[in-house]
Amino acid sequence: MFSTTSKLKARFDKAFTAAFGESASGIDPMLTAASNPNFGDFQCNAAMSLGKKLKKSPRAIAQTIIENLDIADICETPEIAGPGFINLKLKPAYLEAEVRAIAIDPRLGISQIEAPQRIAIDFSSPNIAKEMHVGHLRSTIIGDAIARILEFLGHDVIRINHIGDWGTQFGMLIAYLREVHPEALTTANALDLGDLVAFYRQAKQRFDADETFKETARQEVVKLQAGAEDTRRAWKLLCDQSRREFQVIYNLLDIKLTERGESFYNPLLPAVVEDLTNLGLLVESDGAKCVFVDGFTNKEGEPLPLIVQKTDGGYNYATTDLAAIRYRIEEDGAKRIIYVTDSGQANHFAQVFAVARKANWIPEDVEIVHVPFGLVCGEDGKRLKTRSGDAVRLQDLLDEAIVRTRADLETRLVAEERQETEEFITNVSEVVGLSAVKYADLSQNRASNYVFSYDKMLALQGNTAPYMLYAYVRVQGIRRKGGIDFDNLDAGAKVILQSDAELVLAKHLLQLNEVLGSVDGDLLPNRICQYLFELSQKFNQFFEQCPVLKAEEPLRSSRLILCDLTARTLKLGLGLLGIQVLERM
Ligand code: ARG
Repeated sequence: MFSTTSKLKARFDKAFTAAFGESASGIDPMLTAASNPNFGDFQCNAAMSLGKKLKKSPRAIAQTIIENLDIADICETPEIAGPGFINLKLKPAYLEAEVRAIAIDPRLGISQIEAPQRIAIDFSSPNIAKEMHVGHLRSTIIGDAIARILEFLGHDVIRINHIGDWGTQFGMLIAYLREVHPEALTTANALDLGDLVAFYRQAKQRFDADETFKETARQEVVKLQAGAEDTRRAWKLLCDQSRREFQVIYNLLDIKLTERGESFYNPLLPAVVEDLTNLGLLVESDGAKCVFVDGFTNKEGEPLPLIVQKTDGGYNYATTDLAAIRYRIEEDGAKRIIYVTDSGQANHFAQVFAVARKANWIPEDVEIVHVPFGLVCGEDGKRLKTRSGDAVRLQDLLDEAIVRTRADLETRLVAEERQETEEFITNVSEVVGLSAVKYADLSQNRASNYVFSYDKMLALQGNTAPYMLYAYVRVQGIRRKGGIDFDNLDAGAKVILQSDAELVLAKHLLQLNEVLGSVDGDLLPNRICQYLFELSQKFNQFFEQCPVLKAEEPLRSSRLILCDLTARTLKLGLGLLGIQVLERM
């Protein structure tokens, strides 16, 4: 389905050619949403620049445009204002037909993309045996939302978990494992290592304190790379245990990912270095193999190399990323590659992309983007920490959201003298608590830091998940109260838009298509949050001003359609953010 804006654009294009000849085709009508609803819905601002070009008065140009503009089925008669603005007001009959059309469409009028792309999204990507921290939580939530949106638009998305499952730290971990659990290296039986983060800390202490241990750790790295059986087994044990811990979080947040960790690219690393050598891009610097690209300097202003092979022959995080780019383009056939990490890695990606470009590994039809995000801060405005100063454990953070939601809910039940089952309370607490965390993250422009505040995210008012969920619940309340079967509303029922509140709501409902289209371009899920927030507000206003169940037919059916369409839009929009709705709360 075409959005109203694109429909109008096409009509303007026709008018331009009719009025000014073929050469005027393609001129941007510069349509903007009218700032003052009294003047209409859209404004065309093209007459001013056209006037300059054609050396005519903009008002005269505007008049000529209008004379050639065929939009009577969409808008009231256009009006010229000020220096030459053309104001357009949508006709209620047009809006009624459009709302009716999206109401009977299971996709709510959202078009499938005409040219779907294969898109690789690299997100979440925590590190083995290390804490999955709030940065990974942001990457997980934002990456998942972007994936859901692009999938819904019809793209073919691969969700890649680029887990940090390789590197010299494994030497230390395996050496320590050999000391404390020697049996783990010889038997194939699974073993529970308990708290892996504590294990990491102990291994690190041992590593820092003892030179002989350090040497053993180094040898374990060599053995791991050579594929020694016992060392490999230990590595796999560590990975499996971490994987199980990550999975708990993924299950809780309903996240689907395909694991393709750093180790996956090991066999492809020598070729990266070889090809860079053959291209004449490699420079040896202090025994390390480097690539220099213009525009990257260190603090002293000296050229900053990207090291692809260290003096000891080992490869880097960057080498793996270069191999991954090649794999995603050549093997996966990705036309867009999206990396979701904190903005602290912006330089890393910029440099890796620049090297890949210089090596001609990124064909012209492939787009490669870093999607950066800011820090999660505590209410003190500093990086989020526990009271004792440790990094916050994700599991604890999510549990706390659920516990607080439960407390709020229980207070509310007492106040409303409501009785609910334990099952109901548990479910509502989980859904609302987790939704609140996801929504708080997604509703911010991802580039900025955001303050993690349970009080704010759980508030029933404002741009929060509970507010949105309430609007949905409200419609379900109407359904139950009126015994309405929304799936089988009278097929002949018309949409009638009379009051302002109805018109305002209808216009907003018709904008989802455009909002989603823009997210396909700029990958800013907060646009959807803003859209849903305004939708909930407009719905609540409509609901306060327009009786639904008590209205006379045919208004009653029309308002029921608006209610149902609002609920389905909320469900769809929240679903694209990875947020589930509730029938009651
Ligand atoms: N494991 C990395 C970290 O925790 C993130 C990986 C991001 N993806 C990538 N292809 N480098 O910071």
